[in-house]
Amino acid sequence: MTDSISDAAEVLRHHLPILAFTGAGISTESGIPDFRGPNGLWTKMDPADFTIEKYLADPERRKRGWRMHAEGSLWGARATLIPNAAHLALVDLYRDQRLVGCVTQNVDGLHLKAGLPEEAVAEVHGHVRTVRCYDCGLTWPTEEILLRVDQGEEEPRCAVCGGIIKTTTVMFGENLPEAIVERAWALAYRAQSVLAIGTTLGVWPAAEIPFSMVQAGKPLVIVNEGETEMDRLATVRLEGKAGATVSELARSLDR
Ligand code: APR
Ligand code: ZN
Repeated sequence: MTDSISDAAEVLRHHLPILAFTGAGISTESGIPDFRGPNGLWTKMDPADFTIEKYLADPERRKRGWRMHAEGSLWGARATLIPNAAHLALVDLYRDQRLVGCVTQNVDGLHLKAGLPEEAVAEVHGHVRTVRCYDCGLTWPTEEILLRVDQGEEEPRCAVCGGIIKTTTVMFGENLPEAIVERAWALAYRAQSVLAIGTTLGVWPAAEIPFSMVQAGKPLVIVNEGETEMDRLATVRLEGKAGATVSELARSLDR
């Protein structure tokens, strides 16, 4: 029996406010590839290339990363991407006070661009808007560093200490930003249900958030194309595109 949008609306309506927990699948309709979907990044590149150890050890890996960011092909570091209907539907839910906020694994900043306020968004895997020196901690707007790449610097270094610099995204092997994780948990405690959108729900510790909410008896509603690792924990599971499904779900909650 496939669940329907009205099933999902019925559950969420009785468990407000909602926490949105999003992954790469909410941004594919904005032109950013996901990781594990049929054309995901991990079907083209090796995730092992995205460990912090590899990044710090391999100058060729760093040069390739800067080239991809400069081309705008890595998570929209160049602000050329726009939020889609799913991001906007979450803003509507927030404005109607049905959504407490959004914990996102995405680094593209599209939830903020869509209109969710900073305090209602927890980017637990960081974001691509800034670059930080790994040695002395100095930071810059990413665009400033990409202009140096445009002007021919293959591997820009820290202007003060010469250290390796990287975007403030969380690579495998790095800790999640503490203050943001605290914000994520605070949002999760206030929410009475969790709406997981466009994520395989298989990457920890981020996945701890929806998992612990289910453990606390809060219903999980999943919107995804394809299976996730928490399908058996879902009260309602909607198979479909995030844009259309989340918009329709938000409209149903309005009725
Ligand atoms: N609508 C609904 N679902 C979609 C859409 C869409 N338009 N596009 C893709 N999907 C689904 C894919 O089929 C896949 O099941 O979204 C899911 C995305 O899952 P992943 O690619 O695993 O992305 P995510 O869950 O965010 O990955 C978590 O893993 O590699 C790390 O740090 C990276 O934050 C990322 C984390
Ligand atoms: Zn430095």
